[in-house]
Amino acid sequence: MTKYIDEAKAILAANDRGGYTVPTDRLYPFQWNWDSAFVAMGFAAYDIDRAYRELERLAEGQWADGMIPHIVFHQPSDSYFPGPDVWRTNHVIPTSGITQPPIFAMALRKIYETAVATGSVANERTLTLYEAALKWHRWWYRARDPEGTGLVALLHPWESGSDNSPAWDIALARVPTTTETPVVRKDIGHVNPQMRPRDEDYGRFIHLLDTYAACGWDPVEQWQKAEFKIADIQTSAILLKAGEDLHYLAGVFGRGGEADEIATLNERTRQALKAQWRSHLSRFVSRDLLAGEDVAAATQAGFIPLLALDLDEATADAAAAEMRRWCKGMKVVFPTTEPTSASFEAKRYWRGPAWAIINWLLINGLHRNGHAGFAEELRQSTISAIETEGFAEYFDPKTGEGCGGLGFSWTAATYIVLEKADSSAIQ
Ligand code: GLC
Repeated sequence: MTKYIDEAKAILAANDRGGYTVPTDRLYPFQWNWDSAFVAMGFAAYDIDRAYRELERLAEGQWADGMIPHIVFHQPSDSYFPGPDVWRTNHVIPTSGITQPPIFAMALRKIYETAVATGSVANERTLTLYEAALKWHRWWYRARDPEGTGLVALLHPWESGSDNSPAWDIALARVPTTTETPVVRKDIGHVNPQMRPRDEDYGRFIHLLDTYAACGWDPVEQWQKAEFKIADIQTSAILLKAGEDLHYLAGVFGRGGEADEIATLNERTRQALKAQWRSHLSRFVSRDLLAGEDVAAATQAGFIPLLALDLDEATADAAAAEMRRWCKGMKVVFPTTEPTSASFEAKRYWRGPAWAIINWLLINGLHRNGHAGFAEELRQSTISAIETEGFAEYFDPKTGEGCGGLGFSWTAATYIVLEKADSSAIQ
C-alpha cells in the first residue's frame, strides 16, 4: 500500500547520513555492509542514483586486500561499542576488521538491470563497483578458504550477520571470555537486554576481536590463530548467488577471463554446498572446522542454500516440507531457530525471531526451487507483519510483535521490494 511505501521511503531518508544509510538511529550509527546492500536494492526501485551511491560509499571502506568490512565508520558516534579505537584497523576511513555476507554483487546486478530497464544505465559506475565486488570475492576464496574446499569460513560470529545464532553456541563456548579491551556495552542502553546477547558471549566476541587485532589483521595469521572457524553455509550460499550475478556482469562487460575464473569458483562452491545436505535432517549444515564436526543447531541457515542451488525435486520438496513444519503455529514466519528446539527464544535476536531480509532470501530460494506458493505465503507474512507492527528490526514469530530497533532501514527496503510485485518478480 502506498501509505507504507511512503513510510518506508521516509525511514530510508531519515537514516541517510550523506549517501549512505545507517541501519537505525543510535543502536547502529554507522554504515553496515549487508544492510547497505539490501538498502541499495530498495533504493533501486525508485532512485537509481542513490542506489549506486549506497554501494559506492560502502566500497570506500574496502581494504587493499579486497575485504569489504562489516562496518564503515564514516563519522564518529559514541552510541556504539566496539568503535574504531577498539578495532584498531588503521584504515584511512576507520572500519571494523571483519566482514559480513557478500550481498553486494547481488545488489549491483539488480541496480544495473533496473538502470537498463529504465533507460538510466551507468556503465562506468557499474564497472567500478563490479571490480570492487570481484576483488572482494577473490578475498573470500583466498583468505577464508585457503585450502580450496569451496566453502568459506567465518572467524567471528558477527561475520555471519546472524550474530547471536544458536549455530555458534558450541564453537563460541570454547572461546575464552577474557578480554584486553574493557567491554562497555552500549546496545543494552538502547533496547531491552532480554533481546540482546548475554554478557559472557559479549566477552567472547571481544576476545576474538582482540586476538585478530594482535595479528595486525593479517588474514594468514588470523587463519592460524583463530579460535572460532566455521565453514558457513549461509555465507557460502550468498557468495555463490552473488558469484552468479558477478559472472553475469563479467559477461555484460566482456570480461571473458574473469567470467571463467568466477565460473570455476562458483562451481567449486556449488558442489561443496550440495555435499552439506543432510537427508536425515532435511536441511543443509555448516561445518565447525576446529572441532571437525557438523554444526547441528537447527537454524534458518539450513535453508539459505536454496537461494543458490538448483536442487532435484525430492531434495527441494524435503527442504520445503521441513520449513513448513517450523512454520506451524507461528503468527509470523520464518523462525530463525526451529521452534521446538531448546535454544529457541522468540524475542532474543537471531535465536527465533523472523527477519524480513532472511525471508527475502528464502522467498527467492523457494522460487528457484519450484515452491512458488510457499514463497508467496512467506512474502505475505512479511508484508503483513510490517503493516501491523511497523518497520521493526525483527519480529517475534509467535506473537508477531515488532522487536529490537525501530525505523529499521533493511526492513523498509525489504518492504519496498516485496510489496512492489508478486514474488515471481522479486529476483
Ligand atoms: C546486528 C545484526 C547484523 C546487522 C546489524 C545492523 O548486528 O545481527 O546482521 O548487520 O545488526 O543492522
